[in-house]
Amino acid sequence: MKKALITGASGGIGFETARQLAQQNYQITLVARNRERLEQALSSLNGSGHTILVADLNNTDDLQKLAAHLSAEKYDLLINNAGTGTYGQFTDIALEDQLATMKLNMQALVTLSYSFLQKATKGDALVNIGSLLAHSSLPGGSVYAATKSFVANFSESLWYEFKPKGIFVLGFNPGAANSDFHVHAGRHTSSFPEFVVSSVENVATELVKALQKRQKPRVVQGWKNRFMLFGFKLLNRKAAVSIMGKISPGMQN
Ligand SMILES: NC(=O)c1ccc[n+]([C@@H]2O[C@H](COP(=O)([O-])OP(=O)(O)OC[C@H]3O[C@@H](n4cnc5c(N)ncnc54)[C@H](OP(=O)(O)O)[C@@H]3O)[C@@H](O)[C@H]2O)c1
Repeated sequence: MKKALITGASGGIGFETARQLAQQNYQITLVARNRERLEQALSSLNGSGHTILVADLNNTDDLQKLAAHLSAEKYDLLINNAGTGTYGQFTDIALEDQLATMKLNMQALVTLSYSFLQKATKGDALVNIGSLLAHSSLPGGSVYAATKSFVANFSESLWYEFKPKGIFVLGFNPGAANSDFHVHAGRHTSSFPEFVVSSVENVATELVKALQKRQKPRVVQGWKNRFMLFGFKLLNRKAAVSIMGKISPGMQN
């Protein structure tokens, strides 16, 4: 039986990924802030031996404790999934909220990757959840999109560094999904054109598939997202950023 630790697993993409991995015989440690939601998530997983760890990854003590846990316990898989963002124009959002986004999406992810990879052995895997926005700027979500570019580039470098050791590192980039992320960020998924929104089930299924295939350092979820990305690459930057500004939930009042 393989052991996986998933951050941000009390709901959304993290929980759905935990659910699908539990069906494939993984023993899961679910991490998030809300104990009640974690316990509810735990009780709905197939199989036994799963556990929860309550931690606010923006809290330095909690983050250090989780890093120490990853250094002490052997896991086969770490999924750095916890991530937040806030929609709105840069100076309309409190600076501390934007710095908190940077801390969770980058600093916590790097800290946990470090502990995990120091102990990782052949066959293990690290998955960092980025976003389609790793490939694009987002007016009305500038800091969030920038953190996701960081995640994609960081993960790709690690993919190369750890490949000779037989350790797989994947930067997995979902497009818009129907989780609570957008409500937490101050908007609804309905702010996006409906045809681009995927279900969290589909996102998790693609993640698990990419993990099994272990082919590429960077995977963009969903054929529609891959198609859009292809189209965007044909545009000049001015046109691409202008389109993102027009469709961004963060630019709508
Ligand atoms: N949904 C999308 O459209 C979309 C698109 C591209 C990428 N993504 C990325 O996918 C990942 C998962 O997002 P999601 O859509 O599933 O969002 P979500 O439904 O809002 O879930 C976020 C998860 O992270 C946890 N979390 C938030 N802040 C935390 C903190 N400080 N410490 C520990 N855990 C924390 C939340 O649980 P608690 O509140 O209990 O802590 C929850 O379990 C994120 O990295 C996001 O950027 C999402």
